[in-house]
Amino acid sequence: MSRRVALVTGAESGIGAACARTLARNGHDIGVLYYQDDALAEATLAAVVEAGGRGVTVRADVSQEHEVESAYDTVVAALGPPTVLVNSAGINQSGVTVAAMSFAQWKHMFGADLDGAFLTSRRFVRELAKVKAPSGRIVNISSIHAEDVRAGAADYCAAKGALRRLTETLSLEVARAGITVNAVAPGMILTPMNARAVSDADWRRKLEADIPIGRAGTAEEVAELVAFLASDKAAYITGATLTIDGGLSLLLALGA
Ligand SMILES: NC(=O)c1ccc[n+]([C@@H]2O[C@H](COP(=O)([O-])OP(=O)(O)OC[C@H]3O[C@@H](n4cnc5c(N)ncnc54)[C@H](O)[C@@H]3O)[C@@H](O)[C@H]2O)c1
Repeated sequence: MSRRVALVTGAESGIGAACARTLARNGHDIGVLYYQDDALAEATLAAVVEAGGRGVTVRADVSQEHEVESAYDTVVAALGPPTVLVNSAGINQSGVTVAAMSFAQWKHMFGADLDGAFLTSRRFVRELAKVKAPSGRIVNISSIHAEDVRAGAADYCAAKGALRRLTETLSLEVARAGITVNAVAPGMILTPMNARAVSDADWRRKLEADIPIGRAGTAEEVAELVAFLASDKAAYITGATLTIDGGLSLLLALGA
């Protein structure tokens, strides 16, 4: 069977890197879109090659239209048009209240966690229409905070909430083109975004006590769900957000 092409943003770290590795094992060549760390992006590429895939690393700030377009050109030239797109690039909640938040901080969050997915998804559907591809898969990495808000995270919650609505709206627009658009909403996952929980076992155990399954999740567990949504087996799932949080978001009645 011929290999497919997947483009993964945020692919030098955490969930994005795990998605790149897992999709490579499942028969995809990978466009490794990264932002900050050349060495980490090369490590992801090496894992892709070890899994039998081809790949290319491209640096881009996903909030910048011209950088996304140029990175996409590079991936298409190197590997062919992607039929799978995983939007994992993102930054964490600022911990700043609305009253204290600068407009620049607000826009920074929306650039990374929402605009990026708009820009890559727009090019993805345009590209697949051009080559008349019979099917395509978009998977956006959202968060349980798309639904469950917390003080000091208005920027993050609003951006992830909007990402969910982008997922749903786009799924309607491209359904007849054979493209599915879904989101995955993780809870607490041990990646560099949760640096303290990764490095401080006491702190992690304190947070894990509130997770019904009793532990944080791994990037690999999220990547397996993404790979399922990216596969032919998930052809009838679209516009959905699948929660992967060990039951954490079901605890809203605590203290009631
Ligand atoms: N780790 C968690 O607990 C958790 C929970 C829910 C949702 N998420 C979401 O999962 C996604 C991946 O996060 P992670 O946990 O792997 O964190 P991470 O920090 O390991 O990875 C985030 C990646 O996004 C990239 N990035 C940030 N801003 C960018 C920009 N402007 N342009 C391009 N790339 C940019 C970073 O360089 C990095 O590679 C994020 O969207 C995050 O919001 C994570």
